[in-house]
Amino acid sequence: MKTYLVTGGAGFIGSNFVIYMLNKYDDVKIINVDKLTYAGNLENLKSVENNPRYSFVQADICDREAISKIFAENDIDYVVNFAAESHVDRSITNPEIFVKTNVEGTVNMLQCAKVAWTIGDDQYKEGVKYLQVSTDEVYGSLGETGYFMETTPLDPHSPYSSSKAAADFFVKAFGDTYKFPINITRCSNNYGPFQFPEKLIPLIMNNTLQHKDLPVYGDGMQIRDWLYVEDHCKAIDMVIRGGRLGEVYNVGGHNEKPNIFIVKSIIEYIKENVDETVGEHMIKHVTDRKGHDRRYGIDPQKIKDELGWYPETCFEVGIKKTLKWYLDNKEWFENVTSGAYQKYYDNMYSGKQEL
Ligand code: NAD
Ligand code: TYD
Repeated sequence: MKTYLVTGGAGFIGSNFVIYMLNKYDDVKIINVDKLTYAGNLENLKSVENNPRYSFVQADICDREAISKIFAENDIDYVVNFAAESHVDRSITNPEIFVKTNVEGTVNMLQCAKVAWTIGDDQYKEGVKYLQVSTDEVYGSLGETGYFMETTPLDPHSPYSSSKAAADFFVKAFGDTYKFPINITRCSNNYGPFQFPEKLIPLIMNNTLQHKDLPVYGDGMQIRDWLYVEDHCKAIDMVIRGGRLGEVYNVGGHNEKPNIFIVKSIIEYIKENVDETVGEHMIKHVTDRKGHDRRYGIDPQKIKDELGWYPETCFEVGIKKTLKWYLDNKEWFENVTSGAYQKYYDNMYSGKQEL
């Protein structure tokens, strides 16, 4: 039995990972540590909440005492650090919390794991590993050609990506300085079930269903490299099991799409399956995001060659699966978009001018 300490497991990717791992393996135990910010939702984990191999602790990854206690009370083999403030737009209006959680929280997790796992000078309990879930956004923005490789210099632009890059450097520093067993994964944009509707795909889906304007930043020709969330979970699992210590692995499926294409695909799906009155007339080009990265594109050759990872769900299948999931889980959607969400939405979007 291997015990995983998963942080941020009530968020979008974290909850998909917890479910993926418990369903895939009988010899995996998961302790999910989550502060339950606006982005954390225990409803995401309903299908596993009674699983005896799953437990939940509400705690902040910055809290030394709480995290040390979890290590003291459990024989942890792996840490998978998903917990983060994850939304670029929020980082532009409130950068401090990104430094706190993404940088200080990561350093606290590293310190607690290091203390718990140390058996001698730069020597650690057999087989343990700390995996930092990072993002392609640390590499900055691409021109029309080329891809991010693991050797691409970090060049973050937003407060979000800067905080993730800073965290990556600390993880690397623990590997380099203390020979601490680490890996870093840098994945492209994820989509799938349980994504909070501040992000493009569920936001456009929700607005289309509600006959609200569909806000497209600037010309909508910014490119993101979309990966179905389960393929990201599979990559993390493979890196924990087989990744060479100290290495970074990029994760992406060569699925680059301009934002406007994504928005039009969602409209088309809803028009065909739910409501024929929706259409492209609902698209509203609005003030662009400050410092908006133009293009992301991952070169995943290293994880393919070394670990045999490949994406199983192509975009055409994954996007339909995702949109159908949101339609089949209306109650989930209604719950997450009630209360504080509306206030966030009004604040964020009322300041945007139609172009
Ligand atoms: P999310 O915002 O949906 O979830 C974040 C989770 O972390 C929430 O459950 C939240 O409650 C928890 N959390 C926040 N601050 C915390 C704290 N101080 N202590 C404990 N828990 C805290 O994010 P996501 O989209 O699932 O992203 C997860 C990770 O993957 C992040 O590290 C993100 O940078 C990275 N990532 C995301 C994407 C993407 O497309 N969403 C792509 C690549 C990498
Ligand atoms: P997002 O889902 O916030 O992910 P990220 O910024 O981490 O890539 O945004 C994806 C793209 O969609 C990004 O280029 C910004 C754009 N976007 C819009 O055009 N309108 C919106 O309302 C949102 C939330 C994003």
